[in-house]
Amino acid sequence: MVQNIFAGKKIVIGVSGSIAAFKVAGWVSDLAKEEARVSVVMTSSAAEFVTPLTFAALSGNDVHTGMFGQGKEDPMTHISLGRDVDLVVIAPATANIIAKLASGIADDLLTTMVLATRAKVLVCPAMNNRMYSHPATQKNLKILKELGYDIIDPACGMMACKEEGEGRLAEWDGVKELLAHSLSPQDLRGVKILVTAGPTREPLDPARFLSNRSSGKMGYALAQAACRRGAQVLLISGPSFLTCPRGVTLVKVQTAREMYDAVLAHAADSTVIIKAAAVADYRPETVYEHKVKKENIAKELILERNPDILLELGKRKKVGQVLVGFAAESTNLLAEGKRKLLSKNLDLIAVNDISGDTTGFETESNQILLISASGAETLPHTTKLHSADLLLDRVRQLVGEKP
Ligand code: CTP
Repeated sequence: MVQNIFAGKKIVIGVSGSIAAFKVAGWVSDLAKEEARVSVVMTSSAAEFVTPLTFAALSGNDVHTGMFGQGKEDPMTHISLGRDVDLVVIAPATANIIAKLASGIADDLLTTMVLATRAKVLVCPAMNNRMYSHPATQKNLKILKELGYDIIDPACGMMACKEEGEGRLAEWDGVKELLAHSLSPQDLRGVKILVTAGPTREPLDPARFLSNRSSGKMGYALAQAACRRGAQVLLISGPSFLTCPRGVTLVKVQTAREMYDAVLAHAADSTVIIKAAAVADYRPETVYEHKVKKENIAKELILERNPDILLELGKRKKVGQVLVGFAAESTNLLAEGKRKLLSKNLDLIAVNDISGDTTGFETESNQILLISASGAETLPHTTKLHSADLLLDRVRQLVGEKP
């Protein structure tokens, strides 16, 4: 079922001689699990730290180490390796390899392949902090940036040499997101997208609140997918345990009224607004300073309506703005979706069936019924991230059609 951005992508990992090479073995393993087609090129120093066999076993492919005598079938490995690939990643990149790339030296398979490729090259430095901050290394990194290489800054912390500072190989989660970004089409570049996610929490007293089952996963997936495609994403989220995707600006709120204020403050500035949040329709009329005793709850719990944020956005919709709603339904999906599309003046509504176990609240996957003025379409049952991409395809189309 899963379509992910890494599946089938040809990625060359160039490993140079740093102790951090062992961490990159984990990266290769993860990329292979994501169904990327990974080829590994190692310098001879890298092979002193981790054996080529390790990378061969993890990638499922032969590992390339030497310029000569290796290309049994292909005498032009240094050219063919970098041809028609989607991405080249140099990790770990030592001060030495950075210096060689900056001056165009091609004295081994890795550096020759990099000169010959026309794919985007990401460089992940890893070295002792003093080597990293040395003016020569900094100058070389600046040159690489000017030459069009993407540099993934190293992290700070304790190094293998027991010194602390900047120079540790960047963490995989962040690097993986940057790889995903580089592999994604930049078809939403610069589009300002506001996404809301999660539930809202409506307090009754210091111990209790009204809320719902929303985890925020769909909204966070939308923010992540839009950001990967180049959009400028503002995520306004109710309480959620999820981590804000890299590159996304997060505003945290608790209640529906806080979400209303935050959304309305940014709405006019957004080209696309996607309201994936499950906003509580009611709140306790009174928020008690002290815990209400159980005998009194039934009589103290009087509810009042929250504002309908999306309805308000529909009334204020600007020319050229695309407004997308969500609806969580357990019956009459099509009829309810159409009703909300019209009554809230939306361009698109994504209806979730919350009656099943594998769609809707708290699940990893989803199946969306997408309704617009031009008709209804059931998207495939897939991951929330892939659902997000499919929904964004339609959003991009609508942005293009608007005056
Ligand atoms: N929504 C909102 N503000 C509210 C309630 C809902 O902005 N107070 C938005 C949700 O973010 C979602 C859409 O409206 O995008 C539909 O939410 P849903 O709860 O399905 O719709 P309701 O209008 O509340 O309809 P009902 O509860 O009657 O099904």
